[in-house]
Amino acid sequence: MTQRVLTTESGAPVADNQNSATAGAGGPILLQDGHLLEKLARFNRERIPERVVHARGSGAYGYFEVTDDVTGFTRADFLSEVGRRTETFIRFSTVADSLGGADAVRDPRGFALKFYTDEGNYDLVGNNTPVFFIKDPIKFPDFIHSQKRDPFTGRQEPDNVWDFWAHAPEATHQVTWLMGDRGIPASYRHMNGYGSHTYQWTNAAGEAFFVKYHFKTNQGVRSLSADQAAELVGKDASSHQTDLLQAIERGVNPSWTLYVQVMPAAEAADYRFNPFDLTKVWPHSDYPLQRVGRLVLDRNPDNVFAEVEQAAFSPNNFVPGIGPSPDKMLQGRLFAYADAHRYRLGVNHTHLPVNAPRTAVVDNYGRDGLHATRNGARHDKNYEPNSYAGPAQTDAAFSAPIAVHGWTGTHEAPAHTKDDDFFQAGELYRLMSDDEKGRLIANIAGGLSQVTRDDVIEKNLAHFHAADAEYGKRVEEAVRALRED
Ligand code: HEM
Repeated sequence: MTQRVLTTESGAPVADNQNSATAGAGGPILLQDGHLLEKLARFNRERIPERVVHARGSGAYGYFEVTDDVTGFTRADFLSEVGRRTETFIRFSTVADSLGGADAVRDPRGFALKFYTDEGNYDLVGNNTPVFFIKDPIKFPDFIHSQKRDPFTGRQEPDNVWDFWAHAPEATHQVTWLMGDRGIPASYRHMNGYGSHTYQWTNAAGEAFFVKYHFKTNQGVRSLSADQAAELVGKDASSHQTDLLQAIERGVNPSWTLYVQVMPAAEAADYRFNPFDLTKVWPHSDYPLQRVGRLVLDRNPDNVFAEVEQAAFSPNNFVPGIGPSPDKMLQGRLFAYADAHRYRLGVNHTHLPVNAPRTAVVDNYGRDGLHATRNGARHDKNYEPNSYAGPAQTDAAFSAPIAVHGWTGTHEAPAHTKDDDFFQAGELYRLMSDDEKGRLIANIAGGLSQVTRDDVIEKNLAHFHAADAEYGKRVEEAVRALRED
């Protein structure tokens, strides 16, 4: 094996990497020791801002293969043929804790998927839950502040967590989901992924459909009880990272089957609840799952920082045939992610290998900025239109137009006949086995009973009562019993 030569950042060989240059054997360090200065200065700059949410995560490469014909619903090229494969990169994550947090905690999990398609990168930035806590993006910063560490105590505080939920009845469905068995996945391989939002697909004839994505794990859903999770965190705080890394290194490639629920666009306005409300699922009896393809993960990143920490997923990265729905939360997210990337990674984050398209060609008039590596070819013009055959628009919209009407203002979403915040939480509760109901009640009561204000407890209890009378009664009894202890 030939010995590689250690160099400075400018490529010069390093003579001594163990002893700093000093004035005499016992003297102070010399400012002329460029290697030492560079080494210390560079080290000081190793950390970049962590993601404001979903800071802790794990990534893997793989591919998506189409197994069923969906050309009747979308003209997306990467979905256009059975057997077609597209390279992918996925990042799984927890939400609330910071980069050094533990994996086996009760928290939703991120399921952010990048398809490197021939028509540009398509990012589907979902979670392992089909619904979410809120339905208007204006509440997101407050929601996240209430779930992350308190500015005074520096800890996650049950008072803050439950106070936010006391003021957000629409969270009852997701809270029921989170406190149930699926709230702590056994590993990233053993959970489903969901697009969660409603998206719009448009076929070659220009017909529009609203869709919801479901990635069903082929490993089977497995979860941890609160006690099992606490034990695992003590043994290996990075348990989900360990599991994913080792499975792929062993060649046990995890996979998911993608299904979609498809609603013809014309049915949205009269559906019995708002189909763009992120706190609700569409019953499968109304819109059954239709299989699309399979996601397989088969390669670990070579470098966690370069590929996982620097990965940037944006819900606004669509491809022709796929677009947003009027879901307000999704609309907020269309802005938030690329903005976060410009802050966290810089304006040229799309030049980084993990974020750059693989087969699609990037050709535009975006120029310069910090660390620009893609700035147009020699003699390319940097304005448009031009007379020099520079890149020009296609005039082909990605998705069908959506009709809107009404006055501007801070409105609530249009009313449908069954829009209330509780009925799906009740349905979820009634679907659970007796054992699962017992664990759900214990988990909720364990958290809610730690809240110091009675009015916050009462408001939360009212939400569980509204979802299902038995559910409310059992939570109330369990909370009262714990508070009397
Ligand atoms: C990460 C904002 C709701 C899934 C992030 C980040 C921001 C953000 C700023 C960090 C991005 C980065 O630094 O790369 C928001 C806002 C939301 C919202 C404003 C509501 C209006 C949601 C919802 C989901 C979701 C509903 C899932 C359905 C994710 C995932 C990540 C993430 C998976 C991590 C992406 C990665 O692995 O890099 N969010 N989020 N978020 N969010 Fe959201």
